[in-house]
Amino acid sequence: MGTAYDDARRRSLAEPEAFWAEAADLVDWVTPPARVLDSSQAPLYRWFPDAELNTCTNALDRHVAAGRGGRTALIHDSAVTGAVTTFTYAELLDHVGRFAGALRSLGVGKGDRVVIYMPLVPEAVIAMLACARLGAPHSVVFGGFAPAELAARIDDATPTVIVSASCGIEGTRVVEYKPLLDDALRLAIHEPTNSVILQRAQATATMGPKDVDWAYLMGSAEPVLPVTVSATDPLYVLYTSGTTGKPKGIVRDNGGHAVAMAWSLPNVYGVSLEDVWWAASDVGWVVGHSYIVYAPLINGCTTVMYEGKPVGTPDAGAFWRVVEQHGVNALFTAPTAIRAIKKEDPDGALIAQRDLSSLRTLFQAGERLDPDTFAWASKHLGVPVVDNWWQTETGWPMACSMRGLDPMPLKPGSPSVRVPGFDVRVVDEHGHEVAAGTEGNIVVKLPLPPGTLPTLWGDDKRYVEAYLSTFAGYYSTGDGGYLDDDGYLYVMGRTDDVINVAGHRLSTGSMEAVVATHPAVAECAVIGVHDEIKGQIPRAFVVLKAGIQADPGSLQDEIVEMVRDRIGPVAALRQVVVVPALPKTRSGKILRRTMRGIADGREEPVPSTIEDAGVLDVLRPLLMGDS
Ligand code: COA
Ligand code: AMP
Repeated sequence: MGTAYDDARRRSLAEPEAFWAEAADLVDWVTPPARVLDSSQAPLYRWFPDAELNTCTNALDRHVAAGRGGRTALIHDSAVTGAVTTFTYAELLDHVGRFAGALRSLGVGKGDRVVIYMPLVPEAVIAMLACARLGAPHSVVFGGFAPAELAARIDDATPTVIVSASCGIEGTRVVEYKPLLDDALRLAIHEPTNSVILQRAQATATMGPKDVDWAYLMGSAEPVLPVTVSATDPLYVLYTSGTTGKPKGIVRDNGGHAVAMAWSLPNVYGVSLEDVWWAASDVGWVVGHSYIVYAPLINGCTTVMYEGKPVGTPDAGAFWRVVEQHGVNALFTAPTAIRAIKKEDPDGALIAQRDLSSLRTLFQAGERLDPDTFAWASKHLGVPVVDNWWQTETGWPMACSMRGLDPMPLKPGSPSVRVPGFDVRVVDEHGHEVAAGTEGNIVVKLPLPPGTLPTLWGDDKRYVEAYLSTFAGYYSTGDGGYLDDDGYLYVMGRTDDVINVAGHRLSTGSMEAVVATHPAVAECAVIGVHDEIKGQIPRAFVVLKAGIQADPGSLQDEIVEMVRDRIGPVAALRQVVVVPALPKTRSGKILRRTMRGIADGREEPVPSTIEDAGVLDVLRPLLMGDS
């Protein structure tokens, strides 16, 4: 391994405070940190406990002040409307300053929450940064979630204001957001003061008494100055799926996050000030938070935001058109997007039509990068295809080939080496480290570096129980895998009930809770099975109540509809299989772990406590792969 990487990794683990104090110089502080790490509440840690800053200042004002106001900050490319809109740093600052004023006029102050439920429009970025300017934590909810999921987040975050839009556009289909928001507000107990609605040309939302029109509000809004916050104050709360139905509110602080964003883009991704960077994700996911919005803007780059799918609008060459048109230097997307493109353009003909000379690197994350996709993209793009592994909780990569330190050889199937700051290890069920090549639980020794979750929103206890209790002194990632002799990490899949569908993280537990409410269902298990494009898709196995005869087709339709209604279309549950029984222990516990292992192609030893091993034989072909 290269010396710059080795040196950074060694220093970050041996002297974390010195290492991160140095990185903190990349950020503009109102009060620079005198202390680096507060361990007094361990296992809860706080970075830069006495420092103060404003994240929006770091993303916008400081670049304008440095004379870079004319540099393009944001390119919004909407394949679904055919429009490209650009904002310089000065223009973006103007919009953000005024929208912050608008939010303040609605009563939003420091510490108040704002829920953002929007499609991928520039106003979503403006709203996020406006919240950061006010010191008001935002909570962005992905548009593919149903009203009940939005309501659960509204009740947990208790926002003062919600920011939304009349519609999103999915391919050629207009998805009206306002009726979904109205339903969510009917379901929620908490009542926000107002909703700000962006009216898009494709649909006009019906406005209620508490709804305020974005354009009207902005017409009279006065810009406001950034509010100084403590480094440990929350910048945002982002909900993610856990094992249970209740989503986890991942908290991101201001100071540690700004440092991690400032450090990671150049060092992990090798992207600098002059680059055009494109993370083809959605602001509803962590990739969108960190690498559409905060990291590129804090680093003064141009960030591209793409509204559309990789295929179908207009064709599987859409990504390459965007790269050529905007001179993209680095593209970040999920393997599922590349698999969808590869299926429609197997020989890369649409790639060959474009001038992609600006492109240096393709980054891949969100799910395992399978060797076939790695090989196809490497061959047709002719640039390094760099996997990186992380999670909503960590906010930035835990494993990657460090493009800004020592680009090192890539190995198919591995997101490469452990990123400085993350003391990643692989342990057995007793918490003992295993030898290279042996699979186990992937954990990170505490403290986690800056930018990672300090806790869950309003729930320190759940944070400790869910992440810090299984292996004392370690953060449990929920992923399993192994390290090889060269220190490369291989992430093989989740060890819990979380699945990854088309790069979207979902809880099978929450799907089971919905499926179980069908009147014909006695018991059920939802397991992620292999899918050629989406990586994994959920498949429900249901046992009917005694004496009930149900037509399998209608039953499937009804259950699929229930899951779409309560979780959202993004859950993508399409298959419901009626089975005579589920594998159980003699004490009646469903052997989900064994089922998951079979589905993941990791044949786990069948527990000796199994009630009837024959049940597994029936399920085995149904668990293994595409149907
Ligand atoms: N608003 C409303 N509905 C949405 C939505 C949104 N923001 N996002 C997805 N949906 C809906 C879709 O329209 C679809 O509905 P349908 O079942 O009625 O067709 C459903 O949710 C499932 O969507 P998706 O999982 O995206 O499947 P798809 O077949 O439409 O597209 C891919 C498949 C692979 C092309 C697409 O998922 C993709 O590009 N994924 C990349 C994900 C990504 O970037 N993740 C971030 C990590 S880097
Ligand atoms: P999310 O919180 O939505 O980013 O999902 C995080 C989960 O996605 C991780 O815990 C992994 O299970 C999976 N994941 C993300 N990136 C990778 C990767 N590069 N390789 C394997 N799995 C990944």
